[in-house]
Amino acid sequence: MEKSTLQQESLFNIPFWGIRIADFQQKKKELVTLLESYPEKEKEGIQEFASNQGSVTGLVEQFASIMKQELEDFSREINKDFAIIDIWSVSYAQGEYQSAHNHSALGLSGILYLDLPKDSPKTTYIQPWHDYETDTIRYIEVPIVEGDIVIVPSFVLHFSNPNKSKNKKRIISWDMKLNPAIVPPTKVVLEDK
Ligand SMILES: [Fe+2]
Repeated sequence: MEKSTLQQESLFNIPFWGIRIADFQQKKKELVTLLESYPEKEKEGIQEFASNQGSVTGLVEQFASIMKQELEDFSREINKDFAIIDIWSVSYAQGEYQSAHNHSALGLSGILYLDLPKDSPKTTYIQPWHDYETDTIRYIEVPIVEGDIVIVPSFVLHFSNPNKSKNKKRIISWDMKLNPAIVPPTKVVLEDK
C-alpha cells in the first residue's frame, strides 16, 4: 500500500466460474439417459425436492466421461488437478424449493442447469458477511441459461427459491477437491492437461 493514496481495495474475494456448454443439446441427451439409471426420490422434511443424493455409485465416472471437455478446460483454467468426490441430480416440481445449505468447508462445487424452464428460479448465493452499511446479508443470483455450469467454493451458502414453473427445473450438482492425493483413488482425477 502506498502512503499517498486513498483507495478502496478488497480484503477478500469469493471467485466463481461460469461455463457455457458448447454442444449442450447433445450432452443433455446423454446426461438425461445416464440419469435414468439413477432415479430421484422425493425428499421429505423442511424442504421439498427430489434427489438421488447418496445413491450414485458410478455416476461420477460416467458424468466425467460425458463432460470431459468442460472439466479439462476448467482444470486448465484453475491450473490444478481435481477430483470429483460426489455427484447427484435434483429436480424441482412446481412449488418445490431447497433451503440454504453449503457443501463443505473445502473444495469447489458445481451446478449444471439441465432443465431451466421460464419462471423457474436460478440458484441464490448468500454473501457470508453482513454489509457494513446496512447490516444486512446480500444475495446474489448468477445470470445463467439452461446448459450453463456455475462453480463456486463449496463453503458458500446457497438456496433455490420455489419453482414457479409448471415444468420441472433439474440440475446436476457435484463436489470437487483440489488435492486429489487426499481423496480415494477410485475417483476421477484430471491429470491429462
Ligand atoms: Fe447445494
